[in-house]
Amino acid sequence: MNTEKMNKNQPGGKADQFSKSGFILAAIGSAVGLGNMWKFPYITGQYGGAAFFLLFIVCLVAVGLPVLLAELAIGRGGRGSAASSFIKVGGHKAWGGMGMLSVIGSFMIMSFYAIVAGWTFHYAIRSFSGKLFSNSDFGAQFGGFISGYTPILWQAVVLLITGWIVARGISGGIEKFNKVLIPGLLLLLIILMVRALTLPGAAAGVEFFLKPDFSKLTPESALVALGHAFFSLSLGMGAMMTYGSYVDRKQSLGSATLAIGGGDLFYAFIAGLIIFPTTFSFGIDQAQGPTLVFIALPAAFSAMPLGSLFGGLFFVLLAIAALTSTVSLIEVPVAFSMERWGLSRSKAVWIIIAGCFLLGLPSALSFGLIPGLTFGGKSFFDWMDFLASNILLPLGGLIVTVFAGYFWKGVGKEAGLTAGWFRVWLFMLRFVAPILVLFVFLHSAGIIKF
Ligand code: TRP
Repeated sequence: MNTEKMNKNQPGGKADQFSKSGFILAAIGSAVGLGNMWKFPYITGQYGGAAFFLLFIVCLVAVGLPVLLAELAIGRGGRGSAASSFIKVGGHKAWGGMGMLSVIGSFMIMSFYAIVAGWTFHYAIRSFSGKLFSNSDFGAQFGGFISGYTPILWQAVVLLITGWIVARGISGGIEKFNKVLIPGLLLLLIILMVRALTLPGAAAGVEFFLKPDFSKLTPESALVALGHAFFSLSLGMGAMMTYGSYVDRKQSLGSATLAIGGGDLFYAFIAGLIIFPTTFSFGIDQAQGPTLVFIALPAAFSAMPLGSLFGGLFFVLLAIAALTSTVSLIEVPVAFSMERWGLSRSKAVWIIIAGCFLLGLPSALSFGLIPGLTFGGKSFFDWMDFLASNILLPLGGLIVTVFAGYFWKGVGKEAGLTAGWFRVWLFMLRFVAPILVLFVFLHSAGIIKF
């Protein structure tokens, strides 16, 4: 057998795997994305400010980190795609169903995620060129933009860049690219944070973000916080499992888990320190939801000196954060199709990219071009987001916790924790995580209501 070829084609083959730091940066890149920069600020605005942020931290630590470690361990233990790793460590074909769920879910997330990522590219260019500020009705501008054809063009650009990176492989593509972009992202964040914190009236925003008022919390806040901890750490969809399959056996998964969780939290924290001082300083309603960064922030940038530069940098930041996540999303179906159908990496990549483009089209068109694309009060875009993020993702998370907590005998050996930490981890995986995740799932699916 041609071992050289096998190594190349098999995820985790020696020919292509992450270096130690490359893995940490790529996994942080996967975690840090539109979830941190776009979703986290608006849900924090809607669900209770600082108290919500605290709740998010609790969910991240108590449930997110244990599941993250479990996913990394399954991937490294099985050394294959999300499907084959599960089957290999689980010892039964039925576990492959989880892999299929991951492949479909990642594909669905990618289809609409690339559209929002495309919006950020468009906004970056319009901000730098000043065109964004030539008309001060930002709501109408955004509405006009998303209901036209331009987003499709940007969606294609995002997919092509993603495909180009992933086609170059793990060490030469995904790792190389994250090693430059993740530090770059940090630099941009710090520049924007300093700008935001020195705006007049910034303190009120900092207080909203960091001084908890627990009376603002509702039971729903807790579920949203937990769901977001999963989304933000890229859990439940096989992404971390797939990345785990490219990790060296000698690397400590426990410390990697802490670094990834810490990195994700840190980037969300700084994003909050940009958005809340800015919105408070300009008297903008921070609870307005998904349109916060596309409608409210341009209004703030238009009113500050050098706003088109800062606005441009802000949207470049979002675009970079999005790209380091899209590469991890498509790696899940790419690794799967390379393994299952023996495709070369580049063939697998371009087939998947084309598929994501096609599946994304109805989402992109559902903002107005095809008004009929609304079913049961939700647009096609909302359905994709809802099914993938609220149904498949918690379901995937639940399967991972139950599998690692109850079924996988070798779990302790692969995770490599000390005896004390192993006990804590197992307790979380067995008793805490599944129950909480089950609540999120039932609530998201509309089966229970508060
Ligand atoms: N974590 C990313 C974000 O916060 C999104 C993401 C990337 C993701 N890969 C994922 C979400 C896998 C769920 C599953 O934006």
